[in-house]
Amino acid sequence: MTLRDSFGRVATDLRLSLTDRCNLRCTYCMPADGLAWMPREEQLTDDEVVRLVHIAVTRLGVDEVRLTGGEPTVRPHLVDIVARLSDLRPRPRLSMTTNGTSLTRLAGALRAAGLDRVNVSLDTLSADRYLAITNRDRLADAQAGLAAAVAAGLTPVKVNAVLLRGVNDDEAPALLRWCLDRGYALRFIEQMPLDPQHSWNRGVMVTGAEILASLRTEFTVTALSGRGSAPAEVFAVDGGPGTVGVIGSVTAPFCAACDRVRLTADGQVRSCLFAREETDLRVAMRAGADDARLAALWVAAVRGKRAGHGIDGPAFVQPVRPMSAIGG
Ligand code: 5AD
Ligand code: SF4
Repeated sequence: MTLRDSFGRVATDLRLSLTDRCNLRCTYCMPADGLAWMPREEQLTDDEVVRLVHIAVTRLGVDEVRLTGGEPTVRPHLVDIVARLSDLRPRPRLSMTTNGTSLTRLAGALRAAGLDRVNVSLDTLSADRYLAITNRDRLADAQAGLAAAVAAGLTPVKVNAVLLRGVNDDEAPALLRWCLDRGYALRFIEQMPLDPQHSWNRGVMVTGAEILASLRTEFTVTALSGRGSAPAEVFAVDGGPGTVGVIGSVTAPFCAACDRVRLTADGQVRSCLFAREETDLRVAMRAGADDARLAALWVAAVRGKRAGHGIDGPAFVQPVRPMSAIGG
């Protein structure tokens, strides 16, 4: 069986959210005083997580698992979960999207447990701006975490940056210089309407075109061919080998080539970040469903995937769950 939708796309990349909690409060993701967290009893246990991923890799053709949150490093037993996922056969590629602030402590153990690589979120090089964006004074920890990831071999290390108008929209060239100097692969992500405050609007979003224009004030940036199912359009910087990615989630959606499926920390399959429907594997599993039944539910969930997110359309409705509860 594969996770094939009605448009012929096949999902092989599982975004696995391990928690909706986070130690930061990025304005585009969470209110300053946090959110009402998921009740503990609704969160999948470690055994349930491993069981569902086992089903995904043995029965459904998933070959890549990306750990997300919230912030995955706040999940208890993370290293043990990684070790158990790495023991699955066929072994999926394992990566993690993190804010990096815990990597000085965890990178070595995660690598030893089988994690292949990390994506670290870093929107600014200024401590004041980091505080303004994340509501926490942790820039130095995030930067040290990046270095720790390289030292541990969690490579290639990618950096995700979101530019916010009037906050850090002048920082694209400086971020690129900083990442190139350290061997991190920088990708800019257009801000998407996933904030719980519902404050996103098309007009204030910094577009991929603007980001490129800004980079071109200091670099020669040339498009490399074909982005495949990868959402980032990749550009060579000053003739290479350095590159930069621009993920035009809103203005250049990659939905037609999407190969992702999501599982939330409370066991809901979402076929898209912007899906309005979820399929509850947790309740089915706790009611005694066997692996074949859970696989069938998962297949049915993906079959109903929509063509695209429709952010620019008149009928767009922001998902009820914020990003932190869906998984990036
Ligand atoms: N739009 C774009 N990117 C976002 N992220 C979190 N919320 C949003 C949003 N509304 C990014 C984080 C992190 C990754 C999981 O997604 O910065 O890099
Ligand atoms: Fe935490 Fe990531 Fe959300 Fe920032 S974007 S608050 S780091 S989950």
